[in-house]
Amino acid sequence: MSYRPTTTNDAGNAAPSDEHSQSVGPNGPLLLQDHYLIQKMAHFNRERVPERVVHAKGGGAFGVLEITEDVSQFTKAKLFQKGARTESLVRFSTVAGELGSADAARDPRGFAMKFYTEDGVYDLVGNNTPIFFVRDPQKFSDFIHSQKRRADNHLRDHNMQWDFWSLSPETAHQVTLLMTDRGTPASWRHINGYGSHTFLWYNAAGEKFWVKYHFKTDQGIKNLTREEADAAEHDLHIRDLYDAIKRGDHPSWTVQVQVMPFEDAADYRFNPFDLTKVWPHGDYPPITIGRWTLNRNPENYFAEIEQAAFEPSNLVPGIGASPDKMLQGRLFSYPDAHRYRIGPNYLQLPVNRPKNEVHTYNKDGAMAYYNSSDPVYAPNSMGGPVADPELWKDDSYEVAGEIVRSASTRHRDDDDYVQPRALWEKVLSGTDRDHLVGNIVAHATAPEVTGDMKKRVVEYWRNVHKDLGDRVAKGLSVNGS
Ligand code: NDP
Ligand code: HEM
Repeated sequence: MSYRPTTTNDAGNAAPSDEHSQSVGPNGPLLLQDHYLIQKMAHFNRERVPERVVHAKGGGAFGVLEITEDVSQFTKAKLFQKGARTESLVRFSTVAGELGSADAARDPRGFAMKFYTEDGVYDLVGNNTPIFFVRDPQKFSDFIHSQKRRADNHLRDHNMQWDFWSLSPETAHQVTLLMTDRGTPASWRHINGYGSHTFLWYNAAGEKFWVKYHFKTDQGIKNLTREEADAAEHDLHIRDLYDAIKRGDHPSWTVQVQVMPFEDAADYRFNPFDLTKVWPHGDYPPITIGRWTLNRNPENYFAEIEQAAFEPSNLVPGIGASPDKMLQGRLFSYPDAHRYRIGPNYLQLPVNRPKNEVHTYNKDGAMAYYNSSDPVYAPNSMGGPVADPELWKDDSYEVAGEIVRSASTRHRDDDDYVQPRALWEKVLSGTDRDHLVGNIVAHATAPEVTGDMKKRVVEYWRNVHKDLGDRVAKGLSVNGS
């Protein structure tokens, strides 16, 4: 037999037994002095960090982003310069289910990417849909509560889901996508990824642009039907990705951006920062800029995937935030979630730590590993790091207005139904439409959905398109038109 090292405890002290606790006599009570046993049991009790409050079930892999086209006229971000190769991590996930829930459940899929650039970490925390259910962060936790479990019986409840959706018309576009077969992808390799929000790009001359990111799967879109999804293996997607990478079948995505000149935003026909809308390809055609490939599985799921902390606030020079209210809310939410879920020094963990040097005046806290050195304050005359005021002007732009709480914008075509209607009328095939209707009807036929709620469901879909509403009415046996 080959050499096997001696088991130790976590302090490196040799362990006397992997199997037997220290007892008084062979059948006797155990001893408090058996600190090997005590460490083993105590550590086991602390194995879990809290699961993510959303997107708890997921899996991921490492890869590389390669830029093949010159987009230096739009951004000076080093990771997007022609020829750049940047190490990357992705985590795919479902949204509403718990850590052990089924991969094939009807849900959007999280598509969270981390790029280890020479200017620090850049995170693009997107989904497999280009839009979202709501456009104001004020509504995010209410929306999520409606998707998760009830307070009384701890069950998920389709009546509650349709209640929220039908009272929030801005959800219609995303719910349409969710109820197509794109809501049940065949695998993570067969989905597109979208940055979803509009982001700011600026070039070396300081010129600014608005962008949207599209990662188009080179494997092709492939979905499950409702029946296939219901019958699918629990860990279908995590296994599929792991096995594909293990056998050398490395999935890739073509990276595209839509670019809007900065000035267009003011009088575009709808609010270009509204997360419930896409930019039609006809208005801003996607430009291919490179390829992103996954080529390495994690070696330790907990360390590299469960403890991965993605945050839309991780931005690098050349890229900034936009006024999208949802993005603004997310800039706060994610670092806050990580401090709670993983701890204040989550950015020191190997998977989250940037590959460039960190020179921060933040210090100490639970599990601090990379300790700061003196001086520990700024300003100082001790030769400590100094911030770069050149960065001030880069992502700045003028905003003025009254402080308000408002649903409306100054754009003329801000309508909640135009884009889902275009999807139904112009994009979906006959089969796609049949499946959309069938999926809606099956979802709203759950026993807890009341008769009154079914009428609201029909009304919701009639607002998208009369034919769609009529077909849902027929499927739900709701009378009237
Ligand atoms: P286009 O005809 O130029 O684009 C339609 C896009 O829809 C396609 O490029 C494809 O984008 C996506 N698509 C194709 N089949 C399906 C499907 N079965 N389910 C969902 N999406 C599909 O028209 P517009 O750009 O004017 O968009 C029309 C509608 O298409 C929008 O209102 C929106 O609902 C939907 N859409 C638009 C996207 C955009 O960024 N403009 C992206 C996705 C959907 P992809 O390959 O990126 O999925
Ligand atoms: C995860 C909040 C909207 C994509 C999370 C988490 C929180 C959160 C708290 C858990 C983070 C963690 O514990 O690691 C919010 C809020 C939103 C919002 C407040 C709106 C205001 C969105 C949108 C998208 C998105 C619009 C996609 C475009 C994701 C993804 C994850 C996630 C992919 C999982 C990241 C991972 O794999 O670790 N969100 N979210 N979220 N969110 Fe959001």
